[in-house]
Amino acid sequence: MAPPTERWRDRFLLDADLAFLNHGSFGACPREVLERSIELRREVERDPVDFLAGRLEGLLDGVRHALGPFVGASPDDLALVPNATTAINAVARSLSLGPGDEVVAGDHEYGAAARTLDFVCRRAGARLVRARVPVPLRDREQVVESYRRALGPRTRLLLASHVTSPTALVLPIARLVELGRGHGVPVLVDGAHGPGQIPLDLDALGADWYAGNGHKWLLAPKGAGFLHVCRDRQAVLEPLVVSWGWPPEEAPGDPSRGRLARLFDWPGTTDPTALLSVPVALAFLEEAGLARIREHARALLESVSSLTGLAPVGPADGPEWQGCMVSLVLPLDAPEDLGARLRERHRVVVACPEFFRPRVIRVSAHLYNSEEDLLRLARALREELGPAGRA
Ligand SMILES: Cc1ncc(COP(=O)(O)O)c(C=O)c1O
Repeated sequence: MAPPTERWRDRFLLDADLAFLNHGSFGACPREVLERSIELRREVERDPVDFLAGRLEGLLDGVRHALGPFVGASPDDLALVPNATTAINAVARSLSLGPGDEVVAGDHEYGAAARTLDFVCRRAGARLVRARVPVPLRDREQVVESYRRALGPRTRLLLASHVTSPTALVLPIARLVELGRGHGVPVLVDGAHGPGQIPLDLDALGADWYAGNGHKWLLAPKGAGFLHVCRDRQAVLEPLVVSWGWPPEEAPGDPSRGRLARLFDWPGTTDPTALLSVPVALAFLEEAGLARIREHARALLESVSSLTGLAPVGPADGPEWQGCMVSLVLPLDAPEDLGARLRERHRVVVACPEFFRPRVIRVSAHLYNSEEDLLRLARALREELGPAGRA
């Protein structure tokens, strides 16, 4: 029998010569999930009117019903969108900010999310305040403290990632939601890396909004995301694209559908097949097992710091800190084009987030990765960083 990694690797489409250690950026879609989306595109073209004007509404309801239990949410509290950026934009652009108001985001936040907040702040004469999360980090309390210090009487929103993009830290998100609530500040969780990497119970978490991606760890094709909205916030959430669903009480279609479905399901004609493939992606995840994915990733990543000689960003002192990624701090003299060198000279793919200081590399692991991938990364870093990359 083939060893487990090979068995899983065959079910993805990744190039055979790649040590692909960057699931975090755009995911990697299993063969059978992609096939389902291609099949659906064919189905659309066999009778576009019947599919898009007739059946789509019910099919999207089916996606919400499959996704709801997986993320611990009621299907009616989910808006389906193409990606987390769209979800974050919908929330940010629905805020009513005034001059002198403040919006708080950590400095490990994803660049596009921070820029979205900066955009709405500038437009309103408000201010984006960054919570400074230290690197290296010693303990979780430092994160909560950083956010606490950034809050003020004019704070109108707190944005925090469930798993940070450049630094791969699983933030103490329930504590941050509590912190916001204690100060009367609504909390938007950027959960782009959450679903499929971290078990979710969004109802229990109780954030005001949770923006999630389907095409990263959930293993859906590109263009699948969602926004979970707590009940109290639904009436004031505006769709990013105003279309047939506005106003929701006059939207065509089944009048019993939830407000979010009516507002978000038809952003104009688009390709819905990535979203419609989410149930197949969930079936794949169920077969693979979230716990197995996490255990496999953790077992591989445990040795990445000692193999590469690079220190991790976080304390890595327990499962609550780490998902299926780890970020390592690079030496100051690491070449600017390290990511390109690793790819071109060694066929090793990791994330090298350019917008973050200190410079780091982020290493992801999934079921298709083996120890050999990490050994290749360590050899490649030794070559590219020289003695500084003391592997
Ligand atoms: C934390 C975080 N938020 C948001 C995004 C944006 O995701 P998307 O491009 O799918 O909207 C990313 C993408 O990597 C991310 O890492």
